[in-house]
Amino acid sequence: MSKRMILLGPPGAGKGTQAVIMADNAGIAHVASGDLFRKHLGVGTELGLIAKGYMEKGDLVPDDLTVRMVLERIREDDASEGYVLDGFPRTVGQATALDQALLELGQSIDKAPLIEVGKQELIRRLSGRWVCRGCQAPYHEIFNPPRKVGICDKCSSDIYQREDDKPEVIAARLDTYEAQTIPLIEYYQSQGKLIRINGEQEVEAVTTDLGNAISFNGSFS
Ligand code: AP5
Repeated sequence: MSKRMILLGPPGAGKGTQAVIMADNAGIAHVASGDLFRKHLGVGTELGLIAKGYMEKGDLVPDDLTVRMVLERIREDDASEGYVLDGFPRTVGQATALDQALLELGQSIDKAPLIEVGKQELIRRLSGRWVCRGCQAPYHEIFNPPRKVGICDKCSSDIYQREDDKPEVIAARLDTYEAQTIPLIEYYQSQGKLIRINGEQEVEAVTTDLGNAISFNGSFS
């Protein structure tokens, strides 16, 4: 069975944390637009350099560039059985472009879980976050520390703090979410695909709720 999901939620809600687990459990791809931009930036492509200017201010990268990058990524082999989209779409323009591209393939998004977390908690999570330089796995210095300080549990690369996790950029990213991404809640609700998940629980409890809500033929435990 094909599985195509969008994980919605504000910056710091735990989309990346949960998307990795969901993708592993279901044997589908994890496609994170922010990770793709950071990868481009890491190898110095033109797209990466353009994206950098927006990311460091907490603004969104323009829709045309973002849509092209993500659509290319979901055409790759490892996404043929399905994918969890993390951080995309983020505007109604991106959502309609995605729907249109999928329609042309006779496909559609199955579900759009929304991880809900209050602003104060988001700030606490983002300001204590560390990310793996190799596989991008997120950690938190208090809530989810790596077993060995400074080293990723999964791939043993070093972990670092993201430039856009500075207080002033966190504030801008939260404002951008309110202004440009909140309308997607109504967009997916009107399609009957939105599922609200309480994100202010332990990581494992959020995973369980997501699994129960999505339950693709028991693929999620
Ligand atoms: P992106 O990388 O997508 O960042 P984001 O959406 O701001 O989301 P985050 O990665 O910050 O948070 P998350 O929800 O994944 O939380 P995480 O699991 O890490 O985007 C960065 C930038 O790229 C954007 O600002 C924009 O410029 C650009 N961009 C990306 N996509 C774009 C698009 N579609 N269009 C245009 N521009 C785009 O968790 C956060 C922390 O909390 C971690 O430390 C984690 O360990 C901890 N944590 C997680 N769950 C829990 C829990 N249940 N309890 C306690 N702690 C927890």
